[in-house]
This record gives sequence, C-alpha cells and structure tokens, in this order.
Amino acid sequence: MLPEALPEISDTDLEQFFQILLTQYGYDFRGYAPASLKRRLGTVLRRYGLADMQTLNQRLLSQSDYFERFINEITVSTTELFRDPSSWAALRAQAMPPLLSLSQLRIWHAGCSTGEEVLSMAILLHEMGLYSRSQIFATDIDGYSLEQAQKATYPLRYKALYEQNLQAALPGVSLSSYAKEVGGQLVFSPSLLSNVRFLRHNLVMDAAFGQFELVLCRNVLIYFTPSLQDRVVTKLVDSLVTGGVLMIGTKESLFWCTAAKRLLPINDGERLYRKRQ
Ligand SMILES: C[S@@+](CC[C@H](N)C(=O)[O-])C[C@H]1O[C@@H](n2cnc3c(N)ncnc32)[C@H](O)[C@@H]1O
Repeated sequence: MLPEALPEISDTDLEQFFQILLTQYGYDFRGYAPASLKRRLGTVLRRYGLADMQTLNQRLLSQSDYFERFINEITVSTTELFRDPSSWAALRAQAMPPLLSLSQLRIWHAGCSTGEEVLSMAILLHEMGLYSRSQIFATDIDGYSLEQAQKATYPLRYKALYEQNLQAALPGVSLSSYAKEVGGQLVFSPSLLSNVRFLRHNLVMDAAFGQFELVLCRNVLIYFTPSLQDRVVTKLVDSLVTGGVLMIGTKESLFWCTAAKRLLPINDGERLYRKRQ
C-alpha cells in the first residue's frame, strides 16, 4: 500500500504561519529550509487529523497551551550517543590536545536535543580526566527535549547502537561503566550531568551568552536556509575564545558562512574547526 500523501501547504499558508509564530510567540521560523518545514508541518496536520494549514494556524492562534507541544513536533530531535563516532575520535585526537592544559573548559552544545550528545561529551571528558574542570551548557529551542535530556534515561532498544558507537569512538570503554539497565530502560549515571546546565535557547532569536573553548552545533544548521546558517554560525564563532573549537554535523557545511574565514580546519571531513588568532 502506498503511504498517504501529506497535505499540500501553500506559500500563503506558510506566510500566515510565520506571522502567527512571530507575533504571538516571538519565534521566527522564516529562515528554516521550506521543503523540510513543509514536510514536518504536513506530518503534524496528518497526526492531528487537521484538514489543512489554516486549521493548524487557527489552533496556534487560539490555543497557546498547544505551542510547547507544537515546537516539539515541528523540530527534528533525532540524535544518538556518539553519533558519527569517527568525529568524536577526531575531536579527542586532533582537537582536544591544545585544550588539555587549560584550567577550565567551557563547552556549549547548541541544539542538544534529548541529551545523548551531552552524555557523549561527558564520557569523553571523564575518559580524558577533564570532567572536573569542565562546565557544560546544553541548550535547545524545544522544552520537551530538554526535559528528556535531564533524565538521561533512554529506551533499552538503543543500547546496542550506543555500545557500538562508543566502541568506535573510544575503543575499550564500556557502556556499563556509565549506564545501567533499570526498569527496562537505559539509565546513565547522574554524575555525568553534575557539571551540565540545560537551558532553553533559540539560536535564531537569542543572543549568544558566553565564551567557550568548545562549541558543538551538530545537525541543526542543516534545517536552516543558507542565510540563516550564515547568521547562526557568526553567533557560534563569536562565542568561541581564540583557539576554541567548533564542531558541526558531518552532513553540514560552512560554505555559506562568512565567519568561516575566522576558522582554520582541524579536520574538514569531520567538520572540526579552530578559531584563528
Ligand atoms: C537533529 S537534532 C540534533 C541533536 C544533536 N545535536 C545531534 O547532532 O545528535 C536538532 C536539534 O536542534 C534543535 N533546534 C532546532 N531549531 C533550533 C533553534 N532555532 N535553536 C536551538 N535549537 C534548535 C531541535 O529542537 C533539535 O533538538
């Protein structure tokens, strides 16, 4: 059987949607890549049995308590522990060494989703003996994902994949040193989050909020138009100290970003860059 087609969304409907989010909620989605945004809006319409985009727009106008759930539904929260393991191995081997002698390591995960990337970093820092010197800020636009992230608890079905990614990223390190099965779930040690602060932050609307030795913004830029990627990457690079490291997703690029000239590649294939003098 063919999957049911998603409802059509016109540019006029989309324009009205942008205006409602901007004026009623202060969220600007105009810089999100339209094709994938329309696809996700179509999925929301189908899930709720809404006839068309006008009905969704009406709902957003009249039911402000629906907005939080909507943000969760419209964003893509896909993530993994040690996602793209070779990037983590390169981060450790090639990007971290100059940071080892620092007395503090401030790290920002921009778009941390449900927290697996933050736990990966915490495990890496533990393994390198750096965790106690580290202060980690983990932010996302989506409050539901942030709530999940703070629980550090995941369905057991991910265990094999997480074990495999961890082995590929940090050979010899066992997942059982950091997580255990409790009540049919995979629960990470709370000590991994003791130096982590989770905060709501919108990369499009909110100002940068500190200076960091390491900024990770992975698999977030891919949902933005080139001009929004340019603006957001400028914000990320402004947030790095000289010599600080930027890590983006392996399927992302700095091609559109003027701030790229303020970076030197550490490993271009793994999307690791250092802020130049
Ligand atoms: C695909 S997940 C990536 C998670 C993780 N960084 C990784 O690579 O596995 C994208 C995340 O970006 C967040 N996001 C989307 N737009 C955002 C924005 N404007 N500001 C902050 N986070 C945003 C989403 O809520 C989602 O959690």
